[in-house]
Amino acid sequence: MAERGRFITMEGTEGVGKSTNLAFVKAWIEAEGHKVLVSREPGGTPLAEEIRSLLLAQRDEPVDAAAELLLVFAARAQHLEQVIKPALARGEWVLCDRFTDATYAYQGNGRGLDTDLITSLEQQVQGDLRPDLTIVLDIEPELGLARASARAELDRFERENLDFFQRVRQGYRERIAAAPERYGLIDAGQPLANVQVDVAALLQAAKKRWDS
Ligand SMILES: Nc1ncnc2c1ncn2[C@@H]1O[C@H](COP(=O)(O)OP(=O)(O)OP(=O)(O)O)[C@@H](O)[C@H]1O
Ligand SMILES: [Mg+2]
Repeated sequence: MAERGRFITMEGTEGVGKSTNLAFVKAWIEAEGHKVLVSREPGGTPLAEEIRSLLLAQRDEPVDAAAELLLVFAARAQHLEQVIKPALARGEWVLCDRFTDATYAYQGNGRGLDTDLITSLEQQVQGDLRPDLTIVLDIEPELGLARASARAELDRFERENLDFFQRVRQGYRERIAAAPERYGLIDAGQPLANVQVDVAALLQAAKKRWDS
């Protein structure tokens, strides 16, 4: 049987540079000689992408935070079973734009939902599966939002106020503080070339740990 692949996730608030740096990480993994599957959350399968559209759509009806949380985990269950677990079992590496850390940060810190509820869903849906490495790109939310809004029409999350994103940012920092070995925190306010120097160093350090 193939050796299980590594699972790497990319996190951070809006416009921080997740998608931009995903391509860089993908190239690094391929240069290491591994096959890599790139995906995103919410999404990654046709059903999960439909759930993503439901989550991001602007609507007149207020969206209940618990409903939002359950939709996120519904999409995640589908993504894990159909895509992520099979790829890891084939020995491929999986690189995902957002994962459960985003749920803790957005639905936990951002929306104010009880962390125990999230932890319990995480356990139900994921069992013991956690990312091997999570790259958290960190930026002043105002700067990230300015980057994101220069790009496209704002989705339901991007229309949240600055306080919301400050809480989300704080949420990521709490996650890192609780388990520093699984995370790398990167100053994403730097020019892209510098961000990528830091990302490469992080990957190199993780590789060293995994190879030893
Ligand atoms: N270090 C950087 N310096 C300046 N601009 C950057 C940097 N990194 C990314 N950008 C630009 O900022 C914009 C947002 O980047 P990107 O789409 O990668 O962010 P994202 O985190 O994926 O956003 P979202 O949360 O909305 O998916 C893009 O136009 C990108 O080119
Ligand atoms: Mg993106």
